[in-house]
Amino acid sequence: MSHHNGRYVQIAGWGKSLPEHVLSNADLANLIDTSDEWIRARTGIRERRVAALEETTSSLATGAAREALQRAQVAAEDVDLVIVATSTPDYANMPGTASLVQHALGARRAGAFDLNAVCSGFLYALCTGSQFILSGARRAVLVVGAETFSRIIDWTDRSTCVLFGDGAGAVVLRPTAEPGGLLSFVLGSDGSGACHLTVPAGGSRRPTSAITVEQREHYVRMHGREVFRFATSVLPTSVLEVLGRAGLATRDIDLLIPHQANRRIIDAAARRLDLPIERVFSNVESYGNTSAASLPIALCEAVEAGRISDGNTVVMSGFGAGLTWAAAVWRWHGDRASPTAVA
Ligand code: ACO
Repeated sequence: MSHHNGRYVQIAGWGKSLPEHVLSNADLANLIDTSDEWIRARTGIRERRVAALEETTSSLATGAAREALQRAQVAAEDVDLVIVATSTPDYANMPGTASLVQHALGARRAGAFDLNAVCSGFLYALCTGSQFILSGARRAVLVVGAETFSRIIDWTDRSTCVLFGDGAGAVVLRPTAEPGGLLSFVLGSDGSGACHLTVPAGGSRRPTSAITVEQREHYVRMHGREVFRFATSVLPTSVLEVLGRAGLATRDIDLLIPHQANRRIIDAAARRLDLPIERVFSNVESYGNTSAASLPIALCEAVEAGRISDGNTVVMSGFGAGLTWAAAVWRWHGDRASPTAVA
C-alpha cells in the first residue's frame, strides 16, 4: 500500500510494558471458586499481570512508548502524533489518556487522541496511524495499545475475572522508500452484538449512582458463549478477507498473530485456516486477554523471539466488544529500511 510515489510505512520501533505483579491460576483459586485445571483447559491461560496501585493505563502506555521510541531512535520531541487505543482510559470521560502519555514522554510537538475499538483497538489505531505516514502528512506516529482491565473486572465473577490482564505495547511508524509495511487491512463492526460485552454503567447512558455501584454495573459483563461463537467465526473469515485484499493466500503467511483472548479460539482459527501451529503466535498463557494491548505485546515478543524477519508476511487479527474486528497484512522491513530515504 503506497499512496504517494514510493512512500511506504514501516514499524521502526516496538516496546512493551507489563506490571510486575503476577497473578497465577492458583492465586485465583484462593479467591474464587475455580481451579488451575478449569482455566487452562477452557482458555490456555496460566497467569496474568495486575497493575500495582500506582500504575495506570497511561503509565504502562508511557513505558511501552519509551521503549519503542528508543528502538526506533526517534526523540520524543520529533513525534508528530500519539494514538492510544484503550477501553480502560485513566479517566472515564476526560482528559484523554493519549494527552497524559504525550506529556509524560515530553512529546511537545505531538497531537494526541484516544481510540476505542476495545480488543480491535490496536489494529484500528495502527491502520489510522499508517494513513498519516502514507499520505505524507506526518513522519513519526506513535501507536499504543494499553489497558488496565483489572480495574473494571468484577473480581467476584469467575466467568470473567480469570480471562483478563493488564499491560501495554507500542510501535513507532515511520515513512520509508523500501516497499513493504501495510499491504491491506479490514476494519469491521456489528453493533447488533453490543450487548454481549459491556460495562453497563458509568457512561452517559447510565451515569454512576449509588444504585449502579450497588448492582456492580460499573464492571465488565460478558455473554461468553456468544462472544466465543463470534470470535471463532470472524477470526478466520477476516484473515481470508485481508489476505484476498493483498492478493495473497494462507500459504503466504509467515506468522499469524491473533488477538490473545483464548487459546481455544486461536487453535480453532488455525484449524479452519489449515495453518500449521508453528506459524501462529500465542502468549495468552502468560498474560491472559490484555484487550487493545494484546497485539502490540505479542508483536514485540514475536520479534524478540526471532519469529519475524526481514521480508516476512505477518497477519494480525483482532476481535472484541462492539462487536468489532480488524485484520492487517504487514510485510516486515527489519533493519533494511531507513526513514531518511523518503523526503
Ligand atoms: N472456573 C470454574 N468454572 C467456571 C468458571 C471458572 N473460572 N467460569 C465459568 N465456570 C463454569 C460455569 O459456571 C458453567 O457451569 P454450569 O455449567 O454449572 O453453569 C461451566 O463452567 C461452563 O461455562 P461456559 O460459559 O459454558 O464455559 P465455556 O466453555 O463457554 O467457556 C469462556 C467460558 C472461557 C468464557 C468462553 O466462553 C470464552 O472464551 N468466551 C470468549 C470470551 C472472550 O474471549 N472474550 C473477550 C473478547 S475480546 C474483548 O473485546 C474484551
